[in-house]
Formats: sequence, C-alpha cells, structure tokens
Amino acid sequence: MDQLVRELEEKRKRVLAMGGEKAVEKQHAKGKLTARERIELLLDEGSFVEIDRFVEHRCTEFGMEKVYLPADGVVTGYGTINGRLVFVYSQDFTVRGGSLGEMHAKKMCKVMDMAMEVGAPIIGINDSGGARIQEGVDSLSGYGNIFFRNTRASGVVPQISIVVGPTAGGAVYSPALMDFIFMVKKIGIMHITGPQVIKAVTGEEVSSEELGGAMAHNAKSGVAHFAEDSEEDCYQDVRKLLSYLPQNNLEDPPTIQSSDDPNRMDMELRGIVPTHPNKPYDVRDVIKHIVDDGDFFEVHKYYAQNMVVGFARMDGMSIGIIANQPKHLAGVLDIDCSDKASRFIRICDAYNIPILSIVDVPGYLPGVAQEHGGIIRHGAKMLYAYAEATVPKITLILRKAYGGAYLGMCSKDMGADVVLAWPQAEIAVMGAEGAANIIFRKEIAAAEDSEKVRQEKIAEYRERFANPYVAAKRGFVDKVILPEESRPMIISALHMLETKRDKLPKKKHGIIPA
Ligand code: HXC
Repeated sequence: MDQLVRELEEKRKRVLAMGGEKAVEKQHAKGKLTARERIELLLDEGSFVEIDRFVEHRCTEFGMEKVYLPADGVVTGYGTINGRLVFVYSQDFTVRGGSLGEMHAKKMCKVMDMAMEVGAPIIGINDSGGARIQEGVDSLSGYGNIFFRNTRASGVVPQISIVVGPTAGGAVYSPALMDFIFMVKKIGIMHITGPQVIKAVTGEEVSSEELGGAMAHNAKSGVAHFAEDSEEDCYQDVRKLLSYLPQNNLEDPPTIQSSDDPNRMDMELRGIVPTHPNKPYDVRDVIKHIVDDGDFFEVHKYYAQNMVVGFARMDGMSIGIIANQPKHLAGVLDIDCSDKASRFIRICDAYNIPILSIVDVPGYLPGVAQEHGGIIRHGAKMLYAYAEATVPKITLILRKAYGGAYLGMCSKDMGADVVLAWPQAEIAVMGAEGAANIIFRKEIAAAEDSEKVRQEKIAEYRERFANPYVAAKRGFVDKVILPEESRPMIISALHMLETKRDKLPKKKHGIIPA
C-alpha cells in the first residue's frame, strides 16, 4: 500500500508543478496568476474538487509522444461560490501556452456536460495560445465540441467567460457564445486576426492592446461586458454577478434578507430629474435612490452609454434594470444601445429575473449612418426581446417617452405588467416643440408675430399632451406616482407579480431580427 500511496503522491506532485518553476515565474512576471491560483481566488476557500488531473494528450506528431503536458494544460473541476455549486475550467498558460488539443478540449466538455446535467453555472478562465498546432484537426474538432456545448447550454445554465491572457483566432467564439465576458486590463486580449496579419492584409498598424484589449472590447466592439483593473477585482465581480443569477433556468434567482426598508420614501428623488425636458442628469442617481442600499451592479458599463443596464435588488429580490441615460446622447435609442438592451432583456428573461425599465427617451437617433447601419433591424430586436420576455415587467416613466421609443422601452402594449409614471412624464408622439411646429405650421406662418404664436402653440400642446394623464386616462399608465413613492410602488408590483404566469405560443423558436 505504501508504494501505491507514494506513486499517487508522485503523480500529484508532477501535475501540480504545472509547466515547471521557470514557466510559473514567467507567468508571474507577465503580471498573470497561474491557472490554479485563479481558481483559488474565484471559489470559496477549500471548495475546489479537481477532476481529470491525470488526463494526457495522445498526439504523436512532431515528437509530441515524448512530451508530458501536466493536466494537458487545463485545470477542471467544481466547487462553490457563496456556497453554491459551480463548474470551472482554467487554462494553464505555463503548459505549452495553454494551447488547446483534443484531450484539453475533452476535459472542458466534460465539466460543461456535468454542469448541464446538474444545472449549475459554468465559468471558463481563458489564457491560451489557441489551437495546439501539433494536434491539427483534432484541436479544431475540440473547439467545435466546445462551441456546440456553449450554444446548447445557452439560457439553461449561466456561462461566464474570464479572459486573462491571449484568446485568438476562432477560439474567441467560445467566450462570445457565453452570457458574460470579463476581461482584465493589460493581460486579456481577444481578436480573430492579430496585429501582424492585419498589417499584412490591410496595412493598418495597431497594438495588441488597442486592437483586442479590455477597453477595446468593453467600449468599442461591445464584445466584453466587464473591464477589470486586476485579476483579484475580476474574481470578486464574478462572485457578485452570480449572486443575482439562479443556478439554472428552472430556478428562481436567490432572494436575500434586505435591511433596506421596502417602504422607504426617498425625497431626494424629487431633485434629481430636471423638469425641463432637455436638461441632462445621470439616471444612475435615480437607480441608486430606488434600489436596496443604493447597490447597482452595472453590466456593459463602457458600451453604448446612452443606455444603462445592470442588476440590483429590491426588498432582497434580484431584478434587471434597463434605463435610458439622458447624460449621454440625451438617452436616444440607437443601434448599439438597442443591441445592448435586447441582449440584457433576454438574459433576464432566460434566468427568471424581473425587469424594471426606467424611461426618459426622446426617440431614435436620426442619421444616415443609423439608417444604413440597420437601426430598423437593431431597434426591432428590442421590441422583440421585450414582447417575448415572460418575466414580470415593470416600467417607470420619469420624464420623456416619445414616439416609437415609448414603445421600445416597454410600454403597456409591449407587455409591461405595471406602468408607473412621475407627474412630469410626457407621453406623446413627439416633444411639444416639434409637435407644435408641425400641426400649427399654417397658423404660425400666417401670424404677424410668428415666434409669439409658435411659443403659444408649444405651450398649448404641452398643456394638452405633454403629461402622464392622457395615457393614464386610457389605462396605458397604471398609476401616476410621486418620485419618492417609486421604491415602495415598484416593490409592491414585484410582490404582486411573483406568481405571474405567461406562456409563449408553442413553437420551435422565434426568428429574432439580427
Ligand atoms: C502549440 C503553443 C501555441 C499553440 C503557444 N505555444 N501557442 N504551442 N500550439 N497554439 C507554446 C509556445 O511554443 C511555447 O512553448 C509556450 O507555448 C509559450 O509560448 P510563448 O510564445 O513563449 O509565449 P508568449 O511570448 O507569451 O506568446 C504568447 C502567444 C504566442 C502570443 C500566444 O505563443 C503565439 O503567438 N502563439 C501562437 C498563436 C497561434 O497562432 N495560435 C493558433 C491560432 S489559430 P515552449 O515549449 O517554448 O514553452 C486557432 C484556431 C482556432 O487557434 C480555431 C477554432 C475554430
């Protein structure tokens, strides 16, 4: 027995040494943690159970039969985050650059299959040189198997991708098929073709960081949802994100005991939104005054900033918030923010998270670039996502809700269960000035003092239509409330809707405008 124990201990030691002392030093020198250190930081202390530690590759090309790659360059297993089960894989760059071969991919697929079987989130930590070149098509097949599973798991169990090293070529598509991508600044890189190839093909010169770094994908492409300053911050934020999500699509998200009074009336809300429709403010100030303890977990913060999305709690319940941001582009709807919002709405719906839409929107952004870029199909995505979502949907109109954008932000007709409006809400086809200019064009032109008449007509239109009461008379607004009543009213609506049942017609799947 002693011999057998020694043998196992030896084998363990060999695997745990990863790519060897030098490779680990090199990894640290690049400002990166090792695959195992990352798992330690991410999971609850001591909870990690590694599986497939002794898996080895079976490549015999290019002298690979003589090469031992510990754990085949990826550490896989399960553990807990805040006591809840998660599955994890972490690519080990110290072992042949974390390159992905046949068995490396099989290990990743095994944990994904287990996660699907038991209904628990998958977290992938990416740090890899891509397809293991020596393994050729076996490696490509590995990626195919991963993409297939990412897609099948989509909307069933939460999938979170963490990019803390290179992720290049087709390899980027596994993170892209998952629900959320976290990138750590300076070390996470994603691109299909790198700077050298781009220079050779198009002549453009760009650094790796500019091309595919954390901020490039958070602020410009919108591929990534979180940009983190350090790996430590990143793992903390992943843990926090999971606290808002259920384990799988058949469960409800966890509710916690909140110490924030559900009936709290916040008088400061009266002072945040200017009554003048063209004055900007930060909608996040409104959100923070409404939700539990002012705690708002923003998602996709740097992308399409005219829309704010993220998670919060109200009376301990997890909710998703979609809000126009008047501070940026006056909060208009455009291509990028429609994509951002529709994806977030679908995530909330997939994981049974009620949606709160906060509306202050002047309309869709005019312009040739928007029209030719496809604002019609991108905007349609938002309508589609709201109409398809069966979770409780609450809409709070703060100020402007004009035209198509009023529908685009989940009006009653688009399936909102409860619509609340503040007294300064203006629900109309367009703003008072634009409306008066059109419908009183002739009178204004014929008048001696046309500017005076124009102002009178604007005032007349505002008086008649730019308020919440016309919509309230028709039942499009359920309740006109004072700003300070927002929190108790939304919480009351969330409780009322707890047992909401809404089913889509039986179909294979819809065809989302794309
Ligand atoms: C095999 C690889 C590898 C790979 C790195 N290594 N990438 N081995 N296949 N794809 C090995 C290196 O040979 C080296 O081995 C070790 O990993 C560390 O690599 P370094 O180059 O020393 O590290 P660094 O200087 O940090 O550079 C990292 C890197 C670079 C930028 C990722 O290694 C690189 O350019 N690798 C090739 C990237 C690539 O072209 N991959 C294929 C992409 S195509 P030793 O033994 O010296 O430690 C692809 C298609 C996917 O992935 C398609 C999916 C559909």
